Amino acid sequence: MASDERFEALLQEHRRFAPPPDFAARAVVADPTIYDKAAADPEAFWAEEARRLDWFEPFREILRWDPPHAQWFLGGRLNAAYNCLDRHIQGPRRNKAAIIWEGEPGDSRVLTYDQLGREVGKFANVLKRLGVKKGDRVTIYLPMIPELPIAMLACARIGAVHSVVFGGFSAEALRDRINDAQASVLVTADAGWRRGNLIPLKANADAALRDAPSVRHTVVVRRVGDRAPVDWHPERDVWWHEAVAASPAHCPPEPMDSEDPLFILYTSGTTGKPKGIVHSTGGYLTGVAATTRMVFDLHEEDVYFCTADIGWVTGHSYIVYGPLANGATTVMYEGSPDWPDRGRMWAIVEKYGVNIYYTAPTAIRAQMRWGPEWPARYDLSSLRLLGTVGEPINPEAWMWYHEHIGRGRTPIVDTWWQTETGAIMISPLPGITATKPGSATRPLPGVSAAVVNERGEPVGPGEGGYLVLTRPWPSMLRTIYGDDERYRAQYWSRFPGMYLTGDGARVDEDGYFWLLGRVDDVINVSGHRIGTMEVESALVDHAAVAEAAVIGRHDELKGQAIAAFVTLKESVPASDALKAELKAHVAQKIGALARPDDIFFTAELPKTRSGKIMRRLLRDIAEGRALGDTTTLADPAVVQQLKAQYEEAEG
Ligand code: WTA
Repeated sequence: MASDERFEALLQEHRRFAPPPDFAARAVVADPTIYDKAAADPEAFWAEEARRLDWFEPFREILRWDPPHAQWFLGGRLNAAYNCLDRHIQGPRRNKAAIIWEGEPGDSRVLTYDQLGREVGKFANVLKRLGVKKGDRVTIYLPMIPELPIAMLACARIGAVHSVVFGGFSAEALRDRINDAQASVLVTADAGWRRGNLIPLKANADAALRDAPSVRHTVVVRRVGDRAPVDWHPERDVWWHEAVAASPAHCPPEPMDSEDPLFILYTSGTTGKPKGIVHSTGGYLTGVAATTRMVFDLHEEDVYFCTADIGWVTGHSYIVYGPLANGATTVMYEGSPDWPDRGRMWAIVEKYGVNIYYTAPTAIRAQMRWGPEWPARYDLSSLRLLGTVGEPINPEAWMWYHEHIGRGRTPIVDTWWQTETGAIMISPLPGITATKPGSATRPLPGVSAAVVNERGEPVGPGEGGYLVLTRPWPSMLRTIYGDDERYRAQYWSRFPGMYLTGDGARVDEDGYFWLLGRVDDVINVSGHRIGTMEVESALVDHAAVAEAAVIGRHDELKGQAIAAFVTLKESVPASDALKAELKAHVAQKIGALARPDDIFFTAELPKTRSGKIMRRLLRDIAEGRALGDTTTLADPAVVQQLKAQYEEAEG
């Protein structure tokens, strides 16, 4: 959790920004009574949202709540790809741009709804030809190219369950996710672009597949061609372009039960093993479609740009399913924000006339560092709404975003949610909610949240506690794939009947929520979730390491940085070369996103008498604070000594 000084600073924040009158006048949600109406009957509220989708078979029951399992829209049948494509193609959106794609090297592609529909149909038929059936799992390991949403929607069309693995994950991380899901097909690319360099996805996939026997076929997109020659396994590999060339565009959508899984997405938790979060078809689609429309104030003519990677939940919900379910135009960008220069995002906004821009606080802080002269060079007058997601936004970054990107005109929606919630839970509604820099404001209509103490009782205004969700919501995760016991234990056992988010929060006198960061062993680096235990397991996997304790320490740019305290095996000398080697080892085991920022060698780690490492004290050391309570330590001298050594080494 953030330090106390930062809590106090947050609560001193008294600036308020009312919705601009011209924005409010034509807002999608303009009537503030929506909160009370939804609170009076949340099920009716969500049922109305669900009915905006096209159902092959209407649902007969809204919610069956058998804690901790919820079923929504029972008896209903629908198809997510049909809702994202066919119903628009049959109407006036047929030739509207569905996806505007911008490649990192400067190539681009626009797919209308009609064209996207054909591509999805073709690839759906390819999957069928490869033997994929309803309920089978397909792992997708692709860069940010149009084939990624095409492959997802093709799975949805035939009722296969996709599991997208972020392209920055290592071969080993990919292998573990394939094996957990028991995927029969892997979709990948020869390579992907990142800051002018190539990421060898096919080589990683080959390495992963040496130990992932469930995969029978690999479909390979040719993204970079001759620049990245690939090893070919003819018995297993097919080129995407060859497979779709011979494939018919027509593929009937599979009518899915509302509760049939739509996808699995792995995320980090408090143990070393990532969790496969399972999302349903009807509830998930209802949640993302409703929140995209309301939170992003979506109008028919809008060009909407979310800068996330589709490998994370933000991309699933707010690049693919939410915008497409609404028939919107969604922009996707393949590469890095500083390639070829630091004005790239604003060049994209100008080029396509982007109206709604959704990004992460860490990206805003990077822009602050690069300086306002970058956005100042571009015409950003098309922007009318800005959003943030992924981590708490500090008021300075909020104000900078407001001033230099929104040019003081546009509302900002700070949206709190998680992989598990599927859709945004706490956020302003931009036409009616006055915002305060740094606060995600209020739970959305139909969402019930609270902040509770150790005993599960609501805390008073300004007091810190655990953020919980107190009623089921349509887009909630249904389980952890293959491990329902873990689902129960992780989210529902601490406070029975309440969903534990893992975040700390405070609520102020106006009922506004201030998110304070994770209170469990999950760290948030540049908006990416990483489990401390995952990094620890990767470290102790190295032959030189005896024990490791990993914490997130505050970082100006990334929100949190990864700090590792490592004890070496007896005969191994500490050295800078070994630090570098350990960092590289973690990157190779998990992916570059988990590479520790600091490694500190120590002879001993602070432990309780029962042998538990006290990470809280390590955080105090790394953040330069006075040590908290040390009375439960087996040997309080260890931590004092460690603090002195750390301060000497790190200055
Ligand atoms: C954090 C990303 C503060 C939080 C959608 C949560 C936030 C975790 C915000 C989920 C926000 C996300 N303010 N914190 N607006 N949005 N978080 O699963 O700690 O990758 O638990 O989902 O990000 O990360 P995840």
